[in-house]
Amino acid sequence: MLESLGELEKVTEEVDLRYVSARVAASPKALWFERVRGYEMGIVSGILGSRERLAACLDCDQREIGRAFLHKLQNRCAPVMVRTGPVKEVIKIGDEVDLTALPVPLISQLDGGPYITSAIGIARDAEYGRNVGAYRLMIRNERETSIDLVSASDLKLFYERAFKEGKSLPFAVAIGTHPALLMAAAHMAPAGQDEFELAGGLAGAPINLVKCETIDLEVPADAELVLEGELLPTGWTEDEGRFGDFTGFVGPLKWNPIFRVNAITHRRDAIFYALHMPDEVDYLVAPPLEGSGWQALANAGVTATAVYAPQAAGCNFNLYASIRKRPGEGKNAVLALLPLKRVKHVVVTDEDVDIFDPADLERAIAYRVRPAQDIIVVPGARGSHLDPSVQLQVTKGALAPLTAKWGLDATIPEGADLAEYETIRYPFRENCSDMASPVAAAGIDLAEQIAAYLDAPKHFAEVLAHFGATSQRDIVRAWGELRKAKRLGREQRTGRYVLQNTAI
Ligand SMILES: Cc1cc2nc3c(=O)[nH]c(=O)nc-3n(C[C@H](O)[C@H](O)[C@H](O)COP(=O)(O)O)c2cc1C
Repeated sequence: MLESLGELEKVTEEVDLRYVSARVAASPKALWFERVRGYEMGIVSGILGSRERLAACLDCDQREIGRAFLHKLQNRCAPVMVRTGPVKEVIKIGDEVDLTALPVPLISQLDGGPYITSAIGIARDAEYGRNVGAYRLMIRNERETSIDLVSASDLKLFYERAFKEGKSLPFAVAIGTHPALLMAAAHMAPAGQDEFELAGGLAGAPINLVKCETIDLEVPADAELVLEGELLPTGWTEDEGRFGDFTGFVGPLKWNPIFRVNAITHRRDAIFYALHMPDEVDYLVAPPLEGSGWQALANAGVTATAVYAPQAAGCNFNLYASIRKRPGEGKNAVLALLPLKRVKHVVVTDEDVDIFDPADLERAIAYRVRPAQDIIVVPGARGSHLDPSVQLQVTKGALAPLTAKWGLDATIPEGADLAEYETIRYPFRENCSDMASPVAAAGIDLAEQIAAYLDAPKHFAEVLAHFGATSQRDIVRAWGELRKAKRLGREQRTGRYVLQNTAI
C-alpha cells in the first residue's frame, strides 16, 4: 500500500547493515532494503515514520487518527485459529536457531547492541489469559536476547509470578505484521483484554492465528517471522540497554531478564521489520492518546474540534486541543486533558486555530493567554521517568517520578472584543491571478452609485469589489467627493463606512 501511495522507496543496491539506521533517519519515505550484505533477509523500516503513513494504516485523514482509533476499537473482531500460514514456511528448532542471522541494525549510537524493535510479544497467565504487548529485545547471542521488564506491564506481572515459582514463562514474538497489531500491542489495554481482538477491530478483519511449534501459544499466521521460547527465571540480572527511546533520549543501562529462543519460524521470503526509533514508536502511540483526549473532552461536556499529540514531544507529553468554547470551557478542557497518561503540557485553543500548525499555535499562545489567569500548574503530579527533567523523589522508600503538570487556556478570553482578534486577510485573494482584467471607464455618477451602494455599512474592500469593473483610481476619486461632502461616516467598532444624509 505504501508503494502505491508513493511512500516507499526500494533500495535495490546491496547495503551494509551498519548504514541502515542513518539512511532511514534521512529518508522522507519508508525504505525497503532488498539486499543486505551477508544476510538472507531484506529489511523494511520507517513504515509508520510519518503521520500520513500512520493515517493510511488507519484509513483516515491524519487529523482524525484519534477518532478513527476510538471508533475502530469499538468494533472488536475476535481472532480466528487457522491450521497453518505463511509464517510456517520455514521452521528451525533448537540448535538451528541463530538470531545473528537476522539483519537487526544498531539503531542509535549509544544503544547497547542491535535491538529488535518491532517485537510483538505473546504470553499467557493462568488468571489473566493471553496477553500481547510490544517489547524491545537486545540481541545477546545466537539464542538469547535481553528484554526490558522494568516498567509496569502485564507481561512484567506474568513474569513476576513465574519468577516467584522459579519457572520459565513461555513467550513468543511476532515480527512484521499488520501495523494494527503493533498498535494494539503498544496500547495499554487492561490485563485480561485480548489485544488480538483489538487488532482485528483496528485492521477491520480478524487476525489469523496459528499454534506455535514448541510452546502452547498462538501467533499471527501471516507474520514475517516468529520467535518461540521462554523468559528464563533468572530475574533482573542481565545488562540491557542503553537504548534510544521514544523520547529521542537514550535511556540508562538496566538489569533485566533473558528471553531464550528455542525455535524460529518464518516466511520463505521474510523481510525483517526494523522499527525505527523514535518516530515509529511515537506515531504508534499517537492514536490512543489523541483518542483518549477526544474521550476526556466529551466526558467533560466540551465540544472538541481537533486533538493533536505532536511528535516532537514523543506523541506522549504534549497534548493540544481546539474546542468550540462556551464560557469557562477553556479551563475545563485543560483540566480534562492534564491527567491523561504521560501528558505533562496541555494547550487548549478555540476552533479557529489550526493546532497542527506550530505558527498558528504560537500565535494563539502569544495573543490569547493572559499568564496571570490562564496558566494552570498542578505541582506534585505523577510524571514519567522517561522525561529527563523529572526528579525521582523518595516516597515511602520507593522512587516516584513526580512532576508538575501545566496547561494553557489559549482561548480568546471571555468578554474580549472580537474585533480586536480580526486578522489580516488579503483582499481579492480568490481572483488575484486575474491581474490584467480590463477596467471600464467610470460612470458619470459614480459617487452617487457608491452612495446608493452604502445602504448598509460597508468596508472599503467591499466597495472595491462591488465596482469591480471600474478602476481603483476612479473609485478613490469618487470616494474623495463623498468624503469632501462629509457624506462618509464610520462605525466606531468595525470601522465600516456608513452614508451620512447630506447632499453633495
Ligand atoms: C516498539 C515498542 C517497544 C516497547 N518496548 C517496551 C519494553 O521493552 N518494555 C516495556 O515495558 N514496554 C515497552 N513498550 C510499551 C509497551 O508495549 C506497552 O506498555 C504495552 O501496553 C505493554 O503491554 P502489556 O501491559 O500488555 O504487557 C514498547 C512499546 C513499543 C511500541
